[in-house]
Amino acid sequence: MNATTTMDRMLDGLPRKAQNRIYGVLDNLRVMGSVGNARVAASMAPSVVRGLVLGRAHSGDAVPMQARHAAHFDLTYQNEFPEMYDLYRRAVAGQWNGERDLDWSTNVDPENPETAVMPLDYPPFAGLAEKGIHLNAKEKLRFANDLASWTLSQFMHGEQGALYAAAQVTESVTWLDGKFYGATQVMDEGRHLEVFLRYLDTKLQKTYAVNDNLFVILDDLLTDGRWDVKFLGMQIMVEGLALGAFGTMYNFTKEPLLKQLLKYVIQDEARHVHYGVLALRDHITKELSPAEIREREDWAYEVALLMRNRFLSHEIYYEWFEGRLSLKDWDDVVLKAPSMAAFRHLMFLRLIPNLEYIGLMSDRIKAHYDKSGLTSFLGGKNATQLSADDLLRDIAAYKPEGAASAS
Ligand SMILES: [Fe+2]
Ligand SMILES: [Fe+2]
Repeated sequence: MNATTTMDRMLDGLPRKAQNRIYGVLDNLRVMGSVGNARVAASMAPSVVRGLVLGRAHSGDAVPMQARHAAHFDLTYQNEFPEMYDLYRRAVAGQWNGERDLDWSTNVDPENPETAVMPLDYPPFAGLAEKGIHLNAKEKLRFANDLASWTLSQFMHGEQGALYAAAQVTESVTWLDGKFYGATQVMDEGRHLEVFLRYLDTKLQKTYAVNDNLFVILDDLLTDGRWDVKFLGMQIMVEGLALGAFGTMYNFTKEPLLKQLLKYVIQDEARHVHYGVLALRDHITKELSPAEIREREDWAYEVALLMRNRFLSHEIYYEWFEGRLSLKDWDDVVLKAPSMAAFRHLMFLRLIPNLEYIGLMSDRIKAHYDKSGLTSFLGGKNATQLSADDLLRDIAAYKPEGAASAS
C-alpha cells in the first residue's frame, strides 16, 4: 500500500475541517526536501515557516523582511558587458506609459461573455462536476470573475516582489552595465505593479491576499544574502513563472484592456529573463565551485516544483467549496485543469532551456526533472535566442488540450 493511499484512508474517517487541516500540514511538510539537499532545505526553512506555518502573508498590513545582501559600489566606471548595455539601451527605448498607452476608459463588464476577463473555458468546471459540484450559469460567471481577481491579485503581489528584488539586485551586481540595466527593470516592475493594481481596483474591484506558496518564494529570495541566488530566483524562476502565467491569461482573456496590458508586460518580462541568463551564465560556469553549483541546481529544482504544484487557488477553495469538497479533491481538480496544463507548459517551455543555458542542468539533476516529466523541454530556445515577438507567437500558438470541453 503506498503512502498516499494510507493517508487517504487515515483522513477518510475524519470530519472535513480536520481532514483539510491534516492534509494541509502534511502537504506543507512535503514542500521541503524533494531533492534531499540539507543546505537547500535549511536555507528555505525560515521562509517556509514564515509563509506556510505562521501564515505571515495574511498577518496584517505589512510583512517585515530582513534583507541581508551587500551593495557593490562601483568605482571603476568601466563598461565591461556590452550585451548588457545593449539591453539597457533597448529597455530605455521600450519604456511605455501605463497611464497614456492603455485605454482605461474601456468598460469591463463582468456579465458580458464577448469580452470576458476570464472566459468560461478557463475554470475547471468539468473537474468540479466529476467531484459532484455543479454550478448554475450565474454561479459559473461569478466563479470565473473571482478566479480572474485571484489570478490578477497574485500577479500584483508578484510584481511588488519583483520591484524589490530588482532594486536589491541592482545594488548587488558588480557590473556597471548591470546597474544601468537594473535601473530600467526597477522602473518596469514599478509600472507593472501600477497597472495590475489599477486594473484590480478600478475594473474588477476585488482583490485576494498573496498565495502562501508565492509568498514563500518571494520571502526566500528577498531575504537570501547571496546575490546570485536572489538573481536566479527572480530573473529565471519567478520571471519564468510570470511568463507562463501572463501568457496563459493573455491567451484566454477576451477583455481588450487586459490583453493589451499583458502584451506590454510580457514584452518587458522577456527582457528581464534575457538579462538574468546573461548575468548568471558567466557567474555559474566560471566562478562557482562544483558544490555551489550543486546547491543552486537543487534550489532551482525545489522552486520549480513549488511553482508547478502549489498555485492551487486555496483562497478560492475556502471561499467557494469548504464544506462541500475536500481540499485534496480541490487540488486534484486544479492540477488536472486544462488551464493549469497551459500554465505549466508555457512556464517550463521557457524555464528549462534557460536553466540549461546558465549551467544548472547536470545529468544528476536532469534525472530529477525527468522524474517530474519536465525534460521534454530540454534543448529549446533560451532567452538570448528569443525576441518578445517570438515569445508572443509561442504563447498564441499553444492550445491546451481539452480546453473547449472544460466548461
Ligand atoms: Fe514584472
Ligand atoms: Fe520582471
